Amino acid sequence: MDAADTIHNEWFPVANAANVTGNSMHPFQVLDQRYLLLCDSAGSVFVTVDTCPHRGARLSLGSFDGQRLQCAYHGWEFEAAGRCVHQPAHPDRTPSLSAALQPVSIREQYGLWWVCGGDEPKNIPTFAAFAEGRGTSLVMNAARVESSGPRIIENFLDQAHFPYIHADYLGQTPHTEIGRYGVDIVDGELHLTNCVVWQPNPGPRATKGGPVHYDYTVSHPYAATLTKVPSEHDGGELGGFSILLVASPITETSCDVWRVVKVADAGADLNAQRAFNRTIFDQDVPIVESQRPQRLPLSPQMEQHQPADAGSLAYRKWLLARGTHYGTVQIER
Ligand code: FES
Ligand SMILES: [Fe+2]
Repeated sequence: MDAADTIHNEWFPVANAANVTGNSMHPFQVLDQRYLLLCDSAGSVFVTVDTCPHRGARLSLGSFDGQRLQCAYHGWEFEAAGRCVHQPAHPDRTPSLSAALQPVSIREQYGLWWVCGGDEPKNIPTFAAFAEGRGTSLVMNAARVESSGPRIIENFLDQAHFPYIHADYLGQTPHTEIGRYGVDIVDGELHLTNCVVWQPNPGPRATKGGPVHYDYTVSHPYAATLTKVPSEHDGGELGGFSILLVASPITETSCDVWRVVKVADAGADLNAQRAFNRTIFDQDVPIVESQRPQRLPLSPQMEQHQPADAGSLAYRKWLLARGTHYGTVQIER
């Protein structure tokens, strides 16, 4: 991986916080590295590299009793916080401090556990709607997508595909035209505003098709939020919702995609929300996995463009400014 790439300092979600409870181990991979999340018997959470410092065996092949992690190979034992406390081949010797597992930065936010393997962690993505008092939220199960994070995010920002890939759900021919929308950088975030698409069923109380208004925010190279702005077409305030989508890169061209959905209607049927979001996402996956190259081309001359792509071109520029190389490709100059 490119040493100058700022991707090392980004946070990525790795587990649904609701699934991380006492005495559990959760192996995962981010940016080609294997890690292990441990939740001890007191509920404290730790993350380390999933590789034993002795001979490099995978620690998650061993056992964890809520206090001690034991490597399957020669039985070394570690506290959840990392210190090596026992080496069975030399039971009377105190293990060296240098045999400890190195901790990785971890945080809980938006119902997810996030990790950052770099020394200068950047921001967790902003998700303004999550903190707003009214409404309710749900965390979708992660979905594996065989493509780069930037291809996945660009698809999430794109509306011109709605009448085709999401026909009769998020769009419908002949209502295919995409008007001008706002593209601005605000405090280092990319904002796409007043994105209007015609939908056959614009909201929970709609009786006929009409325009729907979306705003998007990008504050992290592998994440974006979509907010549906309620209007008179969909029955007012209760039709609003916001989705945070984050692609956690397993490798450069394979991601676990996490989504947190916040709906304005506190009484919304969350199972129906979950099913609808899964349907829409499943429609996108075959197209995104078919895109070549899998890594997002950042040089404008590598693909053809149309005016509706203003947001995706701004996103590509934003990635360059952020110093994100992982998951992208450029023409060398
Ligand atoms: S490799 Fe883990 S104890 Fe030897
Ligand atoms: Fe889509």
